[in-house]
Amino acid sequence: MERRKFIKNCCYTAIGLPVLATVLESCGSIYYASTIRKESQIVLAKSEFIKGDSQSSRSFVLIKDKASEFPICIYKSDSNHYVASLLECTHQSCELNVGGGVYSCPCHGSEFTMTGKLLEGPAETDLKTFKIDTDNENIYINLY
Ligand code: FES
Repeated sequence: MERRKFIKNCCYTAIGLPVLATVLESCGSIYYASTIRKESQIVLAKSEFIKGDSQSSRSFVLIKDKASEFPICIYKSDSNHYVASLLECTHQSCELNVGGGVYSCPCHGSEFTMTGKLLEGPAETDLKTFKIDTDNENIYINLY
C-alpha cells in the first residue's frame, strides 16, 4: 500500500471510530418493552422504564403491537406523566426514528417533539397519540 493511501486510511479510521461509537451508543438507548394486550388496551409495566442496573431510568420505551405496523413510543415526560405516540409520519407514512429528543422522519425530514407535536414539515399535522391511564404499577395505552 502506498504511504499516502495508508495515511489517508488511518485518518478515516481515527475519525470514523468515535462516530461509530456514538452511533452504537445511541442505538443502545432504543429499548423495546414487554407488554400485555388486553382487548383494546396495551398494558406496560412502569418498571420497564428502569434500566437493568436499577440506578437510572429510560425517558422512553418502544412497544410493538400486532395491530399496527408501526411501533408506539411511550415517552415519560415527568415522574407520572406519559405520552404514547404512533411512530408513523403524518406526511407519507414513513416510520419515524427516535433520537436527540425528537422523532425524525428519514424520508423527507419532518420532525416532531417527543409529545408528538409537529416541529418541522413537510408534514402538516401532529402525530397520532393514544389516551393513557396509569395506576401504581402499570401504564394502560388505549388503542381505540
Ligand atoms: S414521509 Fe415523513 S416527511 Fe415525508
